[in-house]
Amino acid sequence: MISVSSGQEYQSQLEAERPALSRRAFLQTSAVGASVGLVAGCSSGPSNDRGAGRIPDWSAEDIPVLRGRTVLVTGANGYPENGRSGLGYHDALALARAGADVTIASRNQTRGQEAVRRIRAEALHAAVRFERLDLADLASIRAFARQMRNTHRSLDLLVNNAGVMGRLNREVSVNGFERVFATNTLGHFVLTAELMPLLRKGHMSRIVWVSSLRAGSGVLRFDDLQLQKNYDYAAAYDQSKLANLLLAFETERRSRRYGWGVTSVASHPGVARTNLIPNGPGLESPEGWRFQWLPIFQPAATGALPTLYAGTAAGVLPGGYYGPKGIAELRGPPGVAQVPAAARDSRLAQRLWPLLERLGGTSFS
Ligand SMILES: NC(=O)c1ccc[n+]([C@@H]2O[C@H](COP(=O)([O-])OP(=O)(O)OC[C@H]3O[C@@H](n4cnc5c(N)ncnc54)[C@H](OP(=O)(O)O)[C@@H]3O)[C@@H](O)[C@H]2O)c1
Repeated sequence: MISVSSGQEYQSQLEAERPALSRRAFLQTSAVGASVGLVAGCSSGPSNDRGAGRIPDWSAEDIPVLRGRTVLVTGANGYPENGRSGLGYHDALALARAGADVTIASRNQTRGQEAVRRIRAEALHAAVRFERLDLADLASIRAFARQMRNTHRSLDLLVNNAGVMGRLNREVSVNGFERVFATNTLGHFVLTAELMPLLRKGHMSRIVWVSSLRAGSGVLRFDDLQLQKNYDYAAAYDQSKLANLLLAFETERRSRRYGWGVTSVASHPGVARTNLIPNGPGLESPEGWRFQWLPIFQPAATGALPTLYAGTAAGVLPGGYYGPKGIAELRGPPGVAQVPAAARDSRLAQRLWPLLERLGGTSFS
């Protein structure tokens, strides 16, 4: 993790270069005709302390005006259906409402286009489009990134949101990798590498890696990363989410070392009512039982807030980790999240990075 002082330096630089005007402030200042220098909601910033955050209650209303900013959200096609929706859909909707130029990238064209239609219906004048991307297919990632590089001059925010939980039996991707590892970790790693040229041209660009409370139970099995010998759906998921947290912090360290000018942060949603468990281990699994019977799962729109905060708030620290600030970080508005001990281990990250470069046939250089 970065030091407090470096975070504060970044914070001052950010505020000097871009006086973030939250939309709530925008509405307030418009109403009273006051100057645009007013900042609401996100001016004090988090301390670098661990544990429950000290961020004042923050909502999607506090997202700065994002006109002219280009954003990509992976896995954003989960429009509301059967009382559930995807976190990425709510990220995309809120970012489009704030005026960003949003690309949503997912596997299914029909669902992607329907998500675009719904966002346009909810956010008048939303600049949102769908592009096909299968994160479990390296060729699809490369084709998608090529398309992005051909159609965009820069990228200001990449939200690495898409994700799967393992099914009860081990599955492999078209490239032969275990499906959870392929989608959540390797896919986003390769995507980030392929989009780095665009991110480097962005305006104070950021990457948000969506992790999970379950990263705390994750173990990186370097001797069996694909869980070929001993598959367990929970172990596959927890490993992938620890890996993504390690990648968030390592990307930040490398960005500083090599002067990429890109900020990398992480978020987790607590627990939210989405399709993750029903489409993963299913409603008959222990997770499925909890999902159906425990009243702790918050609406996806609330679960999306830590990611939106991490991606847009001025108070965000490079290399920071944000999650709900309610009890045990399960639900509530965004706060500073507790980083699991293993995720702080930069030696693990430095071991993982070249391995992913080799498996993904990619490089950040
Ligand atoms: N919900 C929670 O309580 C919770 C807790 C901790 C972390 N998270 C994390 O939050 C993120 C979003 O998950 P969610 O809860 O919103 O679940 P979700 O409703 O199942 O959404 C997952 C999204 O990822 C997409 N996706 C899956 N495989 C893909 C692939 N190969 N290529 C491209 N897109 C793919 C899905 O699209 P398809 O329609 O194509 O499947 C869907 O849009 C995940 O990273 C998850 O690990 C969620």
